[in-house]
Amino acid sequence: MSASTRRDYRPETRIIHSGTRRSQFNETSEALFLTQGYVYDSAEQCEARFSGKEPGYVYSRYSNPTVAMFEGRMAALEGAEACRATATGMAAVTTALMGLVKAGDHVVAARALFGGCRWVVEDWLPRFGVTSTLVEGSDLAQWEKAVRKETKVLFLETPTNPTLEVYDISAIAKIAHAAGAKLVVDNVFATPLYQSPLTLGADCVVYSATKHIDGQGRCLGGAILGSEKLITDHIHNVIRQSGPSLSPFNAWVLLKGLETLAVRVERQAQTAAAVADTLSNHGKLVKMIYPGRDDHPQADIVRKQMSGGSTLCSFEVKGGKAGAFRFLNALQLIKITNNLGDAKSLVTHPTTTTHQRLTPEQRAELGIGDGLIRFSAGLEHPDDVIADLTTALDAV
Ligand SMILES: Cc1ncc(COP(=O)(O)O)c(C=O)c1O
Repeated sequence: MSASTRRDYRPETRIIHSGTRRSQFNETSEALFLTQGYVYDSAEQCEARFSGKEPGYVYSRYSNPTVAMFEGRMAALEGAEACRATATGMAAVTTALMGLVKAGDHVVAARALFGGCRWVVEDWLPRFGVTSTLVEGSDLAQWEKAVRKETKVLFLETPTNPTLEVYDISAIAKIAHAAGAKLVVDNVFATPLYQSPLTLGADCVVYSATKHIDGQGRCLGGAILGSEKLITDHIHNVIRQSGPSLSPFNAWVLLKGLETLAVRVERQAQTAAAVADTLSNHGKLVKMIYPGRDDHPQADIVRKQMSGGSTLCSFEVKGGKAGAFRFLNALQLIKITNNLGDAKSLVTHPTTTTHQRLTPEQRAELGIGDGLIRFSAGLEHPDDVIADLTTALDAV
């Protein structure tokens, strides 16, 4: 039996072997099929492929062997029946949401969303006649109240970016299903290793593979996972016809990224936890947020639905934006950027980058103060990372 189908293998094993399709050369490492199209033995075979009577590849906007290997490996890791890969995480979010709604429908989403996701829900869907309501994700009563008969999708990310709030996936899935709607979860911050939204009742999971799955700052990618029916009825044709497809080259990079995901995430989470513990009482900090700590506001939900903490922690330094900038500019090792999940430790100032588009009031509502810093642990020695953070805090 192949590793793709053996469910008793643990996730760490499945992400190394699952999905592999060997060519006639029996290569060890997955082959990179850099091809746009495919040739046929006869006109009859070509006709049969196009009509779907004969399985096989037709055109790489629809499917490609390297992309299919990435999709197979992601599905095995997530325990999903099906997966479709996309060019970016935003393509995955947009395709999942657009694939599930039509004009006249309604979407309810947590207001603490990554900037691009919030724009899609708040500004873009309404242009196509799909209304949306944003709620405080930790307040189940708000989800219940916002749902109405036109509601087709509930959408959230947990832990959230950048305040690392954690929402109760199974409780929100129940609210969605009672209303005849589907729950879509952006699982980027948890990674497939620390949280399984489908097992908790979600209908669809989306990823920016750009983050931990690549994990080395090389390429962008995304993935949408769910039941065979959900992917066939709502996702496959949107990708096939509108074209947010993943390139085979990026699929190959991401396949290789998956093979080392478990060891990277484990090391990064250990470093993030050590940073949170070391700095939690630091005199230059207003607060420290880490999902693996007992003082996290939703520590009970973390214990219930996550098998690990996070590779990130967020903290607020004293002195608002000026304090944050003094801290950022004093870092020697850790890089200032807006990405996360990389081999390099990274810091982001959400107010002036990922969440710049929001008004100060909207940011305050989300707990994003001007002194807030998001820290993404890399693979460096934890002591060097902590020393860099501690020295830079002296400058605050
Ligand atoms: C939670 C979350 N969802 C989606 C995205 C979008 O992913 P991408 O940059 O690959 O389009 C990001 C990017 O930072 C993110 O943090």
